[in-house]
Amino acid sequence: MKALVINGPNLNRLGRREPGIYGTMTLEQIVDHLRVWGASCDVEVDHVQSNHEGAIIEAIQDSEGRYDFVILNAGALTHYSLALRDAISSIVTPVIEVHLSQISAREEFRHVSVIAPVCRGSISGFGYFSYRLGLEAGVHAVSIDREKKAGVNADKP
Ligand code: DQA
Repeated sequence: MKALVINGPNLNRLGRREPGIYGTMTLEQIVDHLRVWGASCDVEVDHVQSNHEGAIIEAIQDSEGRYDFVILNAGALTHYSLALRDAISSIVTPVIEVHLSQISAREEFRHVSVIAPVCRGSISGFGYFSYRLGLEAGVHAVSIDREKKAGVNADKP
């Protein structure tokens, strides 16, 4: 499988940015971990980070047909970008929403994710490990979809 990890605004500051909330790992270290985890379950991991909404939207659009699933930490765009939500709705590739922090335990404006309803699922609050859970969730979602397509009982453990 191939997975695209997309990180939005300010996530390039990880390691230095509010470490009490986001931890001390840099984005490069998180992506390195993801590549190692990915290799252990046969998932090739590509990564894109941008501070620009349009670049994130283009990365979402371009993922269609090229990746089996997307792991998306949209940063603050999560809370207000209807354009990002529409981009996610426009593709069939499963998108797994991830956050390092537990957004529902923080300021009220972070409690709403406008992208959550159009993502396959959401993972929040496990620090860098949220990305690993996102990877595992993506592999699971794609496997379930393939089994369903093949008419296999997708509910078996
Ligand atoms: C974040 C949570 C967002 O509210 C915030 O704007 C971020 C990071 C997280 O990973 O916890 O930039 O997505």
